[in-house]
Amino acid sequence: MRFDILTLFPRMFSSPLEESILGKAVEKRLIQIQTINIRDFSLDKHQVVDDTPYGGGQGMVMKVEPIARAIESVKSKNPSAWTVYLTPQGNPFNQDLARRLSTQPHLILLCGRYEGVDERARELFIDEEISIGDYVLTGGELAAMVLIDAVSRFIPGVLGSDRSAEEDSFFNSLLEYPQYTRPPDCRGSCVPEVLLSGNHSAISQWRRKEALRRTSLRRPDLLAKASLSEEDRKLLKEIRNSSDDCARLPIGRERGEG
Ligand code: 6GU
Repeated sequence: MRFDILTLFPRMFSSPLEESILGKAVEKRLIQIQTINIRDFSLDKHQVVDDTPYGGGQGMVMKVEPIARAIESVKSKNPSAWTVYLTPQGNPFNQDLARRLSTQPHLILLCGRYEGVDERARELFIDEEISIGDYVLTGGELAAMVLIDAVSRFIPGVLGSDRSAEEDSFFNSLLEYPQYTRPPDCRGSCVPEVLLSGNHSAISQWRRKEALRRTSLRRPDLLAKASLSEEDRKLLKEIRNSSDDCARLPIGRERGEG
């Protein structure tokens, strides 16, 4: 899969995409990532890429012409590349959207700055607008990195042969169960006995119950969407009848729930 990132700040992308799993995916040629500096497509002798808004008002708007020329240069090699504009006004990004985008062979990611792009850039070139959450970033660059990371995990081979993105949180709409590794005792806080028991069916059942407990305490909205078995419902009843709240988030205290 190929990503072409259109940005005014290409250097922002170097280290985050070179490290760890994504870095290896690039080395293995499972993904290709190219940054394109929109400024290089300005026709202006001072390489101006922004201007004041027609009609007046605060801030600057990214000019349509450099964006048009940058996108056209990518599309001239692949007219069917899917073009995404990262903006707080876009559709909320989530795991389903990441999975869908991972089926595209080629994404063009346009990163906005300032007060956004000239509306004609959106109208002429953009297939889809995406936001990564309800807060405002200084630009679309960090959002593009989030998108590339979440999408790349779905490309076969990126997570290694024995793992799949489908096993993670949100695939089955439940949060993950707690994990432990050595030592068995840290300052009096002990690993649950069952995990040391070697009893695989008891371990599976404990994990399912803890995943349900976490989800019901932290994200009841996800639980409502999850597909639950009879056994799950029985476990949930047990959870609701117990006062054990160790799965609660530390910040849960401030949420004023319950
Ligand atoms: Cl995609 N861009 C900006 N500037 N802010 C955001 C965002 C995107 N998603 C959430 N906040």
